Amino acid sequence: MHNYLKTTLSLSPVMPVLTINTLDKIEYLFDALIEGNIKVVEITLRTKNALRAIEIVSKKFASLKIGAGTVLNGQDLQSVKEAGATFAVSPGYTEKLASKALEIKFPFLPGVSNSSEIMNLLDYGFKFFKFFPAQSAGGIEYIKSLKGPFPDVMFCPTGGINLNNASEWLSQKNVICVGGSWIVTNVINDFNEIKKNAVIASSLSNKL
Ligand code: 3PG
Repeated sequence: MHNYLKTTLSLSPVMPVLTINTLDKIEYLFDALIEGNIKVVEITLRTKNALRAIEIVSKKFASLKIGAGTVLNGQDLQSVKEAGATFAVSPGYTEKLASKALEIKFPFLPGVSNSSEIMNLLDYGFKFFKFFPAQSAGGIEYIKSLKGPFPDVMFCPTGGINLNNASEWLSQKNVICVGGSWIVTNVINDFNEIKKNAVIASSLSNKL
């Protein structure tokens, strides 16, 4: 599980967080992301189409790593695995969810926002976490402070990250990648614009 997450989250500096409202033109959306050099995405389970989108995209775009986001319980975890996602992301965690991921051996990036949650999940053997909601849970100063007590832990901060602050987040030693919805938003329906956002996001580096 760790190796899979380490390799996957290292593929791109930015993991677009996608909320898919319609399956219409879904191929165009993913073509644009892939042409923009995106290698990993998180498809949130926030719409009725989400599982179907994961099924379609995982079959059609085999080179892309498809994470399922907003996984809230064991049933969600099972469903996203069956739909073809290769890892799951959650905004927080429950002990049931963490145990289920280990039981079914499914790579899982649990959400945390404080030290106690990290300690609890370290006991389960997790080492990679989504730091959520990154900006409002303490921002860059907070994640810097976590490096001391948790030197071996890596985070994918998400929530309030955008093109203006992504590079600063990426420059933190305990940040493996960042997540964000700015690459594909509801107001963008131009695939060229999505591709442009993807090109810029995927060329961000961790050097300020
Ligand atoms: C998430 O689910 O990770 C967040 O909704 C993404 O946060 P953002 O919209 O602030 O990028």
